[in-house]
Amino acid sequence: MQDQFFKEALTHKVFEYITKATDELGLDSYVIGGFVRDFILKRGNAKDIDVVTIGSGIELAQKVASLLPNKPKVQVFKTYGTAMLRFNDIEVEFVGARKESYTEESRNPEVSAGTLQDDQDRRDFTINALALSLNAKSFGKLLDPFDGIGDLDRKIIRTPLNPDITYSDDPLRMMRAIRFATQLNFTIEKTSLDAIQSNVERIKIITKERIVDEINKIMASPKPSIGFLLLEKTGLLNKILPELIALKGVEEVEGQTHKDNFYHTLEVVDNISENTNDVWLRWAALLHDIGKAPTKKFDKRNGWTFHSHEFVGSKMVYKLFKRLKMPLNNKMKFVQKMVLLSSRPIVLASEVTDSAVRRLIFDAGDDIDSLMTLCEADITTKNPKKFRRYHKNFEIVRQKIKEVEERDRVRNFQPPITGEEIMKTFNLKPCREIGQIKEAIKEAILEGEIPNEYEASYNFMLQKAKDIGLTAQTEI
Ligand code: CTP
Repeated sequence: MQDQFFKEALTHKVFEYITKATDELGLDSYVIGGFVRDFILKRGNAKDIDVVTIGSGIELAQKVASLLPNKPKVQVFKTYGTAMLRFNDIEVEFVGARKESYTEESRNPEVSAGTLQDDQDRRDFTINALALSLNAKSFGKLLDPFDGIGDLDRKIIRTPLNPDITYSDDPLRMMRAIRFATQLNFTIEKTSLDAIQSNVERIKIITKERIVDEINKIMASPKPSIGFLLLEKTGLLNKILPELIALKGVEEVEGQTHKDNFYHTLEVVDNISENTNDVWLRWAALLHDIGKAPTKKFDKRNGWTFHSHEFVGSKMVYKLFKRLKMPLNNKMKFVQKMVLLSSRPIVLASEVTDSAVRRLIFDAGDDIDSLMTLCEADITTKNPKKFRRYHKNFEIVRQKIKEVEERDRVRNFQPPITGEEIMKTFNLKPCREIGQIKEAIKEAILEGEIPNEYEASYNFMLQKAKDIGLTAQTEI
């Protein structure tokens, strides 16, 4: 019965060839790891298959390739003793079963040939150590020495061996544990969580790129706060994103408090994750208040203030991306822009004027919808009346944006009068006055003094030029 269930995991054509190759070479082979786990969890069609064989993974891969109808190229990674090939939509990685021994400074172990059990022992979690036999005589037989099936059922992340050793050997696994807990909504078993706590310092041997990969997977999960709370609880967050830890806590002066911006931030990230899958917009939610820690002040008249936290926060985004070796590209600029503009719509929500809406559209450009999504997610008040009122106000802002945009087309605004035209009209060489006139035209349009049209802008230009003592050489 159980074998029948697992045989259904192995219906992809490629398994027929792996079985044939395995038997012809007189080896034992197994599919192991994420493929088996995700089949049981019904997590959709896998794109990667990991095959472990008691012998040479490279030799097996070459044999499989020679049997496959498309005779795919085998990519061999000699140093790791692994080989990879593609067949139709699937990527198969072959490795010989191995034992591993680690050194203090590196997560790249010394390896030697081993049994299937050795290979399962070296795996990160019980749920990732499940293996299905690929030999014809035992096809689909499950080998589960650590009750990974039980852990899938109980929704538990647990290491096969002593967690202290598993995490210390390869500290990336601390991030992986938290990432799987977040993706699958599983609990990390107590001794495992304690072991992460006591191995936090070891994270320093992991490259930033790998850490960020895991953070991005946490970020792409349905409820990212699960991961960030675990990162905080274990002490990892302080090593990776101390800017968020700085938001923790509530201070009280003269009976006045402010909200805990760490927990608020996590609520915003969860809220936004219900409305967007764009991880960069989720990053913007995570970082939208980071400027609040360095700008926090208390004064007697205004209570707690965070002046310019959006500007300070957007500068911090750059430093944070740089430190984590994240690409300093348009995605980073997008996050900076969202952080910088993150308080603008809420100000609007109390008084919606046409000119303020026009300015917002002008500043946000094509990112206006993302900005509104961020600001709506930012509403975390527990007062139901306020909650409804803020959302209603944002609906009004969205409606107004639509109206103003249809009428005035200021998104991706290009001034109707160019600098060249100003130079030509007044026979000017490049000078300060050109910038002054251009700016005045833009301001007049955004303020609604003139429409966003050529003729009105031209007449406004003539008037403005007169005011600063210029005369036109040509007129329409
Ligand atoms: N593995 C491990 N320790 C790691 C990384 C991987 O023990 N630091 C093992 C696990 O058995 C894992 C398998 O190698 O199942 C394949 O790793 P990988 O492809 O990175 O992860 P998956 O488990 O397949 O899951 P995902 O694709 O979601 O990362």
